[in-house]
Amino acid sequence: MTQPTPAIEAFDAVDLIHAKRDSGELSTEEINWLVDAYTRGYVGDEQMAAMTMAIFLNGMGRREIKDLTMAMIASGERMSFGALGKPTSDKHSTGGVGDKITLPLAPLVAVFGVAVPQLSGRGLGHTGGTLDKLESIPGWRAEISNEEMFAQLGDVGAVICAAGSGLAPADKKLYALRDITGTVEAIPLIASSIMSKKIAEGTGALVLDVKFGSGAFLKDIERSRELARTMVELGTDAGVATSALLTNMNVPLGRAIGNANEVRESVEVLAGGGPADVVELTIALAREMLALAGQPDADVEAALADGRAMDTWRAMISAQGGDPDGALPVARETHTVLADRDGVLVEQQALPFGIGAWRLGAGRARKQDPVQHAAGIDLHAKPGDTVRAGEPLFTLSADEPARFERALAALEGAWRIGSADEPVLDGGPLIADRITSA
Ligand code: URA
Repeated sequence: MTQPTPAIEAFDAVDLIHAKRDSGELSTEEINWLVDAYTRGYVGDEQMAAMTMAIFLNGMGRREIKDLTMAMIASGERMSFGALGKPTSDKHSTGGVGDKITLPLAPLVAVFGVAVPQLSGRGLGHTGGTLDKLESIPGWRAEISNEEMFAQLGDVGAVICAAGSGLAPADKKLYALRDITGTVEAIPLIASSIMSKKIAEGTGALVLDVKFGSGAFLKDIERSRELARTMVELGTDAGVATSALLTNMNVPLGRAIGNANEVRESVEVLAGGGPADVVELTIALAREMLALAGQPDADVEAALADGRAMDTWRAMISAQGGDPDGALPVARETHTVLADRDGVLVEQQALPFGIGAWRLGAGRARKQDPVQHAAGIDLHAKPGDTVRAGEPLFTLSADEPARFERALAALEGAWRIGSADEPVLDGGPLIADRITSA
């Protein structure tokens, strides 16, 4: 039997790898071919791994990053909310410790008639996933169809759900490869990965919360600024009104790190209370999302204070099968760490607290692992607070007490009580900068 003649490919992967290895520029046609050929399996993982390392080392120009983003969008479906009859605005955070802002933010923005289509993910590593947090709520379903999503955006105005596998499948494959080849932290690859999914999702406006500091994905503020600028340019070029806030992730956000406890804290914010930093960031991001959607004067504080955001939250949770009044899980075991002296809490480092919560079971080490919804850390003091010897500093919660030892090991040296005249090492203001298109 004669073998079918293989299709003639437009380029040779090795030529493209050579070009990028030697700091050359890839053409639009070459990038389109590369992404398509990788998605269909013609270009192998080993070749793409070499290419991502070459990109990591030598970078990409603005046109190349845009082409890469558009090619990844073209690898899958593109959603559209044009028929909804209302503007849409979304937020993406690069992830941080205690970052539960999406939970109060989505219903808050929806109060003003701006629909929020939040396609979220599950967590891997020390930063938690929004879906993991919401799955603490009895009955709540992350998996909904596009039709259900559309209907909920019309009725309730906000949806937080799992992204279907149809959006940017090339990114899914590439991200998994980057994860195991040490090439995650390349700005062209991060920017195209995030923006391909957000542009394919079809939102009209997008606000990026780009974190910097010890608990962030990129530690250095200048690298975070470059990532923010790159993503704002990509969104703007694709017709999505995009801006970014650069926010400080040297200290955990709020007082809860975990899943169920982060839902609890989000509900406090929706009830008009909650920690000052969580409220500040929720309000700043809501203003930004609403301004991009044509409502620069929306009174977001009033919608938190008078219960409208809470009403939308309850409707949003119920629409996905959740019981907004259902009891959240509580851990079987707790361990509280007390202050060993009088003074001021001058240090509380985000990364070790994130790792500690993860080791308690709040996060997963492998994609297939379940999370323990009640596991996590509750902070009783924040940097700058005066504490007295014997007072609780933070409480660890876990279902298995054997987890405390490793979590406490992660937290060694992560906090410090100093004297009142020492500077507080919190890395400066929560919101360091705002990046808009030129
Ligand atoms: N999140 C993404 O979706 N992609 C990246 O590359 C990094 C973070």
